Amino acid sequence: MARSTQHPPSGRGARRRPLALAVALLAGAALTLTGTSSATAAPTGPVYLNAKAPAEQRVGDLLRRMTLEEKVGQTAQAAVVRIQGDCMWSGGDLTERCMKEVFDDQEIGSILSGGGMPPKVNTPKAWAEMTNAIQRYAIEHSRLRIPLIYGVDAVHGHNNVIGATKTPQQLGLGATWNTGLVRELGASTSEAVKATGVSWNFAPVADISRDTRWGRYYETFAEDPILAGSLAEGFVKGSEDTGAVSATVKHFAGYSQPMNGHDRTETHVDPRYLRDTILPAYKQAIDAGADTVMVNSGSLNGIPAHASKYLLTDVLRKDFGFKGVVVSDWDDVRALQTRFHVVGSYADAAAKALNAGVDMAMLPPDAVDGYTAGAREAVRDGKVSMRRLDEAVARVLRLKMKLGLFENPFVDASKADGAVLGADKDLAARAATESMTLLRNEGNVLPLNKDLGKVVVAGPSADSVANQNGGWTIGWQGIPAGVDEPGVTVYEGVKAARGDAETVLAMDADEAVSETEGADAAVVVVGEKPGAEGELDSENPSLAADQQDLIDRLEKTGKPVVVVVVASRPIVLGSAADAKNLLMAWLPGSEAGTAVASVLFGDANPSGRLPVSWPKTVGDQPMSYLQLPGTNGGPSSNYDPLFPFGHGLSYTTYETRGLTLASSSVAKNGTVRASVTVANTGSRTGTLVVPVYVERPVSSVLVAPRRLAGFARVDLAAGQQRTVEVAFPMSRMAVTQGDVDGSGTPSVSSGAYKVVSGGKEAALTVR
Ligand code: BGC
Repeated sequence: MARSTQHPPSGRGARRRPLALAVALLAGAALTLTGTSSATAAPTGPVYLNAKAPAEQRVGDLLRRMTLEEKVGQTAQAAVVRIQGDCMWSGGDLTERCMKEVFDDQEIGSILSGGGMPPKVNTPKAWAEMTNAIQRYAIEHSRLRIPLIYGVDAVHGHNNVIGATKTPQQLGLGATWNTGLVRELGASTSEAVKATGVSWNFAPVADISRDTRWGRYYETFAEDPILAGSLAEGFVKGSEDTGAVSATVKHFAGYSQPMNGHDRTETHVDPRYLRDTILPAYKQAIDAGADTVMVNSGSLNGIPAHASKYLLTDVLRKDFGFKGVVVSDWDDVRALQTRFHVVGSYADAAAKALNAGVDMAMLPPDAVDGYTAGAREAVRDGKVSMRRLDEAVARVLRLKMKLGLFENPFVDASKADGAVLGADKDLAARAATESMTLLRNEGNVLPLNKDLGKVVVAGPSADSVANQNGGWTIGWQGIPAGVDEPGVTVYEGVKAARGDAETVLAMDADEAVSETEGADAAVVVVGEKPGAEGELDSENPSLAADQQDLIDRLEKTGKPVVVVVVASRPIVLGSAADAKNLLMAWLPGSEAGTAVASVLFGDANPSGRLPVSWPKTVGDQPMSYLQLPGTNGGPSSNYDPLFPFGHGLSYTTYETRGLTLASSSVAKNGTVRASVTVANTGSRTGTLVVPVYVERPVSSVLVAPRRLAGFARVDLAAGQQRTVEVAFPMSRMAVTQGDVDGSGTPSVSSGAYKVVSGGKEAALTVR
């Protein structure tokens, strides 16, 4: 399988090439923001430019004026490198010749910066100047003055921008079980994105975690559909709260479980599993109001998702009622021809995708002309009806109007640095802190005393801003060498927390061991190097042997050793699985050191709970606590993780004291209200995650022994007891009825269920 060609590995270096045809557009981009006021103040002008007219009238009016070429252009999104430098992959200054090709000749309606793809100088101000310059060119060269919409992957903060605050990657946020926090992060990210003139964010990922071999595991929130869906819902709401940025639910659908673990390889998900387990998280995020959906790049059950009318029209439009824009993933319209070979030409690929339900094609620089030519041809030849094209274009125009791009296409570049650089660091630090998941604390070594005489900080991720951020940071594969990206490393965090006390950074293994022999404690930070997509696939998602060895040697010194894992997934730990003190930090982002230190020294009481199962061995994939019952009684054949879904320790102790239901019976379409009484029985304040599971002791269709139905987070002072209500629709427990063909409809069976939390349970009858 060829690697994804999204961003050629050479792209980063090549970007530094001197450019012949740089234009002075950027210089002229200190725009007076009055340039478009004619749009709002034109009562006599065309309806579509009248912001006060009803949206549908505006869209209809504009559509009627558009040529075929103009319409096709609105269904296309070109990578910004297409208009920079050499018009291919070099990046750099904007190039007038390429702008002309893209906007004057092709009428392209949208631009994206894929992973990386910054302006020549990577500052927020330069981003804003670049998007303004492109926007200005696009509007001035559009006969109808249609603004473009600019998209980025701001998947953990405005992550392509140097100096923007980097929040934890999604999987770490999954460990917080905190939908409100994720909503705040969505809003914060949107503020940064908006300040640079970008109004479309390709986030959140609503795929569920299943297989740690997959290089995008860390981009998911959780292995559980309700947890993943609830967090995706929070992110969508927060992102769109500003009214100026659209979120994208991706990758629709079933992207996360390729059969051989490699990104974008064949996936087989039977209809029942697809419907009951995979689709709900996307649905929850879409129901939250997401403006856009991105399609799964891979194939499902022998059909590329981009060619699936079932997924993109029957499920997404008819069942889910989604009204927004469906965007393809990278180059995936052409892929129908060149990779999947389901059609023989680009025109047929465009027809296939448009007819399946794709509204906009995301295009690498070498695919732009082919797409527009192909789509025009497909419409001229009647392979795509004008009605269908109009429908796609109308959705795009509606989105642009909703975002106010016709009235306010530009951003004040002079404010961008102030709005983005270091913004919301406290929020990012809080998120990282809440994500910290304490897996083991033997002998209660943690929290460490800040005043210990000497503490050694060791391991390859002890002092690495690149490792703690992971992929999708400045560059697609992570921070490129030579880029000076701010961030607090674990070493810096520990040192700052300890003030004048002796803190030693020991990067060399021998040095770390000898320093630890004379120290009071060691913190060893291990894990993975950054990466993204197929490049981070692993046939052996384990801790590297030399890092296991380092941990073993440090533990042999007899000194207290705390292992901090900074990784994109629950890596198999090998000999380090026995480590006495183990903290999972996920990919915590720029504020990693602050967060890790606050937990190590007890300024924060860890509250993270595993959003995924931690496997014992690499052979144990795919893995989830939702494994269905089977007949093999042999070792590890059933759910047998090193640490189960939901695991996570605290510095205090909790007790679940009771579980009652508002009613012991519920209608199939009713809501269950569970009240759970929990208490902090220890001596420190803490936050407890309260998951509520449902069990169905007898079920004709197999269901997992327990399924998460809802959850809450409760702050508890030492000694405090509280009762929290967790309400959930019983429909969350629906399963597709019928035989192995999965042709039945999902429904909730009547009968006896159990609601359980923290070892307490209550019987529930469904009528
Ligand atoms: C990824 C998407 C991303 C897009 C644009 C693709 O390779 O699969 O998640 O939004 O690139 O960068």
